[in-house]
Amino acid sequence: MVLIAPSILSADFADLKNELTRLTDAGADMIHLDVMDGNYVPNLTFGPQLVKALRPYSTLPFDVHLMVNNPDAMLSWFSNAGADIITVHAEVCPHLDKTLQTIRNLGAKAGVSLNPATNEDVLKYVLDKVDQILIMTVNPGFGGQNFIENQLEKITRVKQMIAGRDIKIEVDGGINAMTGAEAVAAGADILVAGTAIFSGGDYAKNINALR
Ligand code: DX5
Ligand code: ZN
Repeated sequence: MVLIAPSILSADFADLKNELTRLTDAGADMIHLDVMDGNYVPNLTFGPQLVKALRPYSTLPFDVHLMVNNPDAMLSWFSNAGADIITVHAEVCPHLDKTLQTIRNLGAKAGVSLNPATNEDVLKYVLDKVDQILIMTVNPGFGGQNFIENQLEKITRVKQMIAGRDIKIEVDGGINAMTGAEAVAAGADILVAGTAIFSGGDYAKNINALR
């Protein structure tokens, strides 16, 4: 069964506590938190203090997506703030093997994300240290962008690489009912969605449509 991870990037930032409750009641499987540093990506969102402040308001796993230049310096911050899954971008981790091991040692699940232009070969030697692979289907930074179709091939290839290991494939960017179905057909297990879940305001209906 496909899991749905709403991204609070598209939520009402002035009402995040209640947005979290609404998403939880609407049947979300996890909460996707997009951390952007205004440097790795051209947008700036929030840090561990907000993650910690929100933590009491949902029992769902917190799926923290770090779009930052120096994730190694921040892993413990987000683990202490209550992140259940911490995903780093392979492009900014010169010692990816070590970074993933550090995330696991902190007690979180370890995720790796690949930008659209990044080859999946970087995953080959870390597969035994990864719990989740996040395939970006847009260039990271903003919600509301169009799904990049050629990433379907990457999803299929990553699914083959995993070869039965207990690793989830997550897709992020431009996911709606149509692109989500394509991603799942290619091998995705988790759909991240911002725009598709928040548009119109009926979160339960939108989550069901994605499922
Ligand atoms: C983009 C973020 C996504 C974003 C997705 O950099 O990583 O999680 O919120 O938004 P939509 O679903 O609107 O493309
Ligand atoms: Zn994300």
